[in-house]
Amino acid sequence: MRLLFVTSEVFPLIKTGGLADVSGALPTALASSDTEIQILLPAYRGMLAQCSSPKHLGSLQPFHDIRCELYKTLLPGTNIPLLLIDCPALYDRDGGPYHHPLHGEWEDNPLRFGVLSKVAAMLAMPNMLQAWQPEIVHCNDWQTGLTPYYLKQMGSQAKSVFSIHNLAFQGNFHADWRYRLTLNLEDYQAEGYEFYGQVSFMKSGLFYADALSTVSPTYAREIQTDQFGFGFQGLLQHRAADLTGILNGIDTEIWNPAQDPYLPAHYTASALSGKQAIKQALQAELGLRQQADTPLLGVVSRLTYQKGLDMLIEIADVLLGSGCQLAVLGSGEASMQRQYLSLMQRYPGQVAVTIGYNEPLSHRIMAGTDIFVMPSRFEPCGLNQMYGLRYGTIPVVANTGGLADSVHGGEINAQGVPGTMTGWVMADNDASTLLVTLQTAMQVYANSGQWQQLQRQAMQQDVSWETSAQHYQTLYQNVLSSPKA
Ligand code: ADP
Ligand code: GLC
Repeated sequence: MRLLFVTSEVFPLIKTGGLADVSGALPTALASSDTEIQILLPAYRGMLAQCSSPKHLGSLQPFHDIRCELYKTLLPGTNIPLLLIDCPALYDRDGGPYHHPLHGEWEDNPLRFGVLSKVAAMLAMPNMLQAWQPEIVHCNDWQTGLTPYYLKQMGSQAKSVFSIHNLAFQGNFHADWRYRLTLNLEDYQAEGYEFYGQVSFMKSGLFYADALSTVSPTYAREIQTDQFGFGFQGLLQHRAADLTGILNGIDTEIWNPAQDPYLPAHYTASALSGKQAIKQALQAELGLRQQADTPLLGVVSRLTYQKGLDMLIEIADVLLGSGCQLAVLGSGEASMQRQYLSLMQRYPGQVAVTIGYNEPLSHRIMAGTDIFVMPSRFEPCGLNQMYGLRYGTIPVVANTGGLADSVHGGEINAQGVPGTMTGWVMADNDASTLLVTLQTAMQVYANSGQWQQLQRQAMQQDVSWETSAQHYQTLYQNVLSSPKA
C-alpha cells in the first residue's frame, strides 16, 4: 500500500504539540514491507539545511501565481522518505509554523496551508514529479483539510483519510478565500466547505474525506455531542460510520527512562533508584528545596483553556499548604503565564515555573517528578500522560478523551493493592475534584511500597504504537476496498 502522510509539523524537525510527535512516530510504526510511506511537509525556515542531501524533484504550481519546488530527503533519524515544499515567500520566515513571532497568527495562513493541501492532492495524480503515486492520502488537522476537496476536484483516484487531532482549531477564514484557493463556488454551502459563512478547512476535511479518524475512541464519541463538537457534531453524527477513534501511541525509543540522553541518571521498572537521583537533580536545577520524600507534582503543557490548568491555580494554596512541590513547564495565554509566575514568587523553593518551550527540560520533569497533573477540559488524546506512565510518574488526569482511554484509574483496595491501576482518573472535571484526587494520590505516595507497585504497573503498560498502527492498517485496508464516494 502506498501512503502519503500530510502534516504541518513533524518531530524532530518542527514541533508545537502532539501532532508533531504523532507525525514522527506513526509513519515509522507503519512502515513495513507492504506499506510504503512518504511524509509531506512545508519547508519552514532552515529546514532544508537540517535534512541530509535533499534531492530536487521539480517544480509545482498549485495556484497560478504560486510556484514551489519539491525536495525529497529522509526524516532525520529514520528511513522514511520526506517531501519538503520549498516556497520561501510562504514558509521561509522567523516565528512558528502558525504564528508571527509577535502578532498572532500569520495572515496568509489560508494560502500557506492551502498550498500544502493542494500540493498533497497534486502528488496523488499520475506522474507528478515521481513515479511513486499514493493510493491513500492521510491528512492531519485543519492545515490539510482542503486536500480531500482538491482530490475530488482534480478527479484523483486516491482515497483520503482525515485525522482530527483537535477539533478546536478549525481553520475558518473569510469567504473571499474561496476565490484565492480556487474552490468551486457551488460547493460553498452546507453540503460543502462552507461553515457559518466562512471557508472552513476543517469542514472540508470532515465533509470530503473518504474516512475520518480521531486520536482516541472516547474523543470519537465526545465530538458527536454538543459539548465537544465545536459545531461539527451534526456532521460527525452523520458520518459516524466513517469515523474511527484510534488511540495514539508514543515513541518508546525517544521516551525511554533507561536510555534518555536528557537525563542525568537512568532507571527501569525493576530498578527505580535512578528516578530518585533525577528528582534530586531536578530540584537543584529548578531551585526547589532538596526534599527526597516530598511529593513533586509535574506539568508540561500549553497553558490554555483546553488544558484546565487554571483549576490547578485555583486549588494551589490548599494543595501547597500540604507541603508538596510543583514544577511547571509551559507557555501559552499571557494571563495564565502571569498567574503561574506569581505562584512561584509566593512559594519560593516550593514552586518552579519555567515559561517557554524546552524539550530537554520536559524530559527531566517527566522523569524527575512523582505525579503528572493533566486536568484537561477536553483532550483528543494527550501524550504527556503516556510519557508519565512510561516514566513511572503517576498521571492524575481528567475523565475525557484519550486521558480516559490511556490511564487505568481505580482505587487502592483495603489490602493496599492498586489492582490494575496506573493512575487516577478524576470522577468529575472540576477544581475541587482535582484537589481531592491529588490529595488521594499523595496519600498513596506516602506509602512507598504501594507507590512503587503503582509505578511498576504504569511503566509496564503498553503505550507503544504497535497496536494502534495495526488499527490504522485496518482503516487503510477498509478505505481502499470501499467504493469511491
Ligand atoms: P497538545 O498537542 O494538545 O499540546 P499533547 O499532550 O498531545 O498535547 O502533546 C504535547 C507535546 O508537546 C508533548 O510532547 C509535550 O511534551 C510537548 N510540550 C508541550 N509544552 C511543552 C513545553 N513547554 N516544552 C517542551 N515540550 C512541551
Ligand atoms: C492535539 C491534541 C492532543 C493530541 C495531539 C496528537 O494536539 O490536543 O490531545 O494528543 O493532537 O494527536
